[in-house]
Amino acid sequence: MFKWVTLMRPLTILRLALLALPLCAPAQTAPKAENKFVGSAVCKTCHPDVWLNFNKNPHFRSIASGKEEPAKTGCEGCHGPGGNHVAAGGGKPTIRAFSQMSPDQALNTCLECHSKDVARGFVRASAHTEADVVCNSCHSIHKSQSPKFLLAKQQTQLCYSCHAGVRAQFDMPVKHRVNEGSVQCTDCHNPHGSAAPTWKTGTSSAMLAPAHDNEMPCLKCHVDKRGPFVFEHASVRVEGCDNCHMPHGSTNAKLLRRPVVFTLCLECHNGAGTFGRQNAGVITQSATHNMLDPKYQRCTLCHVRLHGSNVDPMFLR
Ligand code: HEC
Ligand code: HEC
Ligand code: HEC
Ligand code: HEC
Ligand code: HEC
Ligand code: HEC
Ligand code: HEC
Ligand code: HEC
Ligand code: HEC
Ligand code: HEC
Repeated sequence: MFKWVTLMRPLTILRLALLALPLCAPAQTAPKAENKFVGSAVCKTCHPDVWLNFNKNPHFRSIASGKEEPAKTGCEGCHGPGGNHVAAGGGKPTIRAFSQMSPDQALNTCLECHSKDVARGFVRASAHTEADVVCNSCHSIHKSQSPKFLLAKQQTQLCYSCHAGVRAQFDMPVKHRVNEGSVQCTDCHNPHGSAAPTWKTGTSSAMLAPAHDNEMPCLKCHVDKRGPFVFEHASVRVEGCDNCHMPHGSTNAKLLRRPVVFTLCLECHNGAGTFGRQNAGVITQSATHNMLDPKYQRCTLCHVRLHGSNVDPMFLR
């Protein structure tokens, strides 16, 4: 007990000294006056081109309404206090210039205000952030080509500008009509990253935009496949839609991964492995299936509710 007290004392003194340190530090190294907020109107004189475009910007609203709080909105919300910059007659070193920032610094600047819209945890773990693709790679504050969401380019073109391979997939004969404008990349993806999905756990990237309670994005539009069904087809629920379908485009009907349906079914229904109720692989079709009869090769002719059924465990209706 006594030992603790004697030990605590030097520690407490040390802690007090540390607390006092920031108080003395500026006194030693504070030749400059405090960098003050000056308000956006001051910027107008030297940056008329930027100012001219800014009245349509959502970041301008507070200025337009005459209720500007410089630290929170307006030019200085992003560029920081402009006092020193104006006093020096401009120049990059005196202001938060994005052209001088690392991707991480730019990201943090935007997240000062947007961590509610763009969850910090997700955005940091996203494939984009890891590849140094950050806010200002996709958004353009001053030269936006799509006023909504301040995108640097119209969305599809923006994504294609880096994902050229994906463009080819949406040119295939069977596809989601992204190029035609009826479906968007962001219907299925969240470019800001998202929670790891609960289906296909571990193998799916965290760049999908889940529907409802972390369900596959596909269920936003294909609501009839949503369930829950009395009789679920395990593969739909567990491995997800893109297990059998190509999400973007395919040369096969119904966006299937295989040109012939039964080959898709038999990839799992072949009794191999240790999956399934009997621990002996996914069951094969029963002996009633005469595979020499071409009819039986068209599995979905009979198994019409293969995404799940409320009446039949064999998905026959
Ligand atoms: C929402 C954050 C944000 C606000 C608000 C903002 N800027 Fe910017 N500014 C940026 C970013 C990011 C860049 C880098 C270029 C880009 O991405 O468009 C930039 C670039 C600039 C540049 C460099 C020239 C250029 O066009 O690239 C100037 C000058 C500038 N801003 C001035 C201003 C002025 C003046 C205001 C207020 C009228 C303002 N900014 C408001 C984020 C902002
Ligand atoms: C007295 C004129 C003047 C005023 C007032 C002024 N600037 Fe500047 N600003 C300049 C000059 C000059 C540069 C340097 C341009 C260069 O080097 O290309 C500059 C550069 C910048 C840059 C860096 C651009 C880049 O290349 O990334 C930003 C951001 C900026 N100003 C924002 C502001 C903001 C915000 C305000 C208002 C608080 C403001 N400026 C007020 C003259 C001014
Ligand atoms: C000082 C706070 C602040 C900072 C910093 C800031 N923003 Fe904003 N941003 C806002 C506010 C406020 C709005 C308007 C929100 C609204 O109207 O709902 C907005 C709107 C937006 C919008 C448009 C949303 C829409 O619905 O159209 C985008 C995109 C955006 N910001 C991106 C950025 C990016 C990128 C950066 C960093 C370069 C940034 N913001 C930095 C405060 C900020
Ligand atoms: C890979 C490209 C990309 C990156 C990186 C990116 N965004 Fe976005 N952002 C978009 C697109 C596309 C939209 C439009 C979404 C839609 O259409 O639903 C958007 C929408 C937004 C919106 C408005 C809608 C919403 O989701 O609330 C805000 C705010 C926003 N982004 C801020 C940011 C910030 C802050 C960052 C950096 C942390 C960032 N974005 C990084 C592409 C991107
Ligand atoms: C500035 C370039 C750039 C832009 C713009 C861009 N991306 Fe990316 N994206 C990347 C890079 C780099 C990666 C990480 C490397 C990779 O997997 O290709 C990536 C990764 C991804 C991934 C994850 C890939 C995986 O294998 O896990 C998806 C999904 C994605 N981007 C979708 C989009 C969408 C949707 C848009 C448009 C809103 C977009 N990207 C815009 C550069 C970009
Ligand atoms: C109908 C939903 C949907 C649409 C629309 C969509 N994607 Fe995807 N995308 C997916 C799914 C599902 C995956 C597989 C993701 C996984 O399992 O990790 C994927 C994978 C990807 C990947 C990584 C694998 C690859 O093929 O390189 C990229 C990059 C990508 N998408 C970009 C885009 C872009 C860019 C657009 C818009 C032009 C887009 N996606 C539109 C659903 C979609
Ligand atoms: C934004 C809404 C939307 C989302 C999200 C969506 N789809 Fe679709 N899907 C459509 C529309 C609309 C069609 C009709 C095809 C067309 O555009 O001609 C379609 C068609 C299909 C088809 C049938 C194609 C054919 O040739 O008949 C399949 C299979 C499909 N989607 C699977 C998926 C999968 C898997 C996902 C998730 C990765 C998904 N969809 C996400 C809207 C969506
Ligand atoms: C086990 C493989 C498999 C899985 C998993 C799967 N599908 Fe299918 N899906 C098919 C087959 C096979 C067809 C073609 C049926 C036919 O030819 O009648 C199809 C057809 C479709 C169609 C077009 C015809 C229709 O019924 O509307 C849509 C849309 C569709 N699937 C969406 C989805 C969605 C959304 C998911 C995820 C919830 C999903 N699929 C998961 C195998 C699958
Ligand atoms: C990704 C693997 C996978 C694919 C592909 C697949 N299934 Fe299944 N299927 C399963 C699993 C797993 C079960 C559950 C088996 C169990 O519980 O033992 C199942 C169950 C079934 C059942 C119900 C059997 C029963 O006794 O409950 C039928 C019928 C069926 N599948 C038909 C099909 C058809 C037709 C196709 C092709 C369109 C198909 N499946 C594609 C994995 C798959
Ligand atoms: C002509 C209609 C028809 C076609 C075509 C058909 N099935 Fe079936 N399937 C049935 C019926 C009826 C049952 C339930 C009674 C039985 O087992 O014979 C069944 C049962 C099954 C079962 C469960 C067997 C068990 O022991 O529980 C599987 C798995 C299955 N089918 C897969 C397939 C696959 C894979 C294909 C395509 C290669 C296919 N079926 C084509 C009618 C069909």
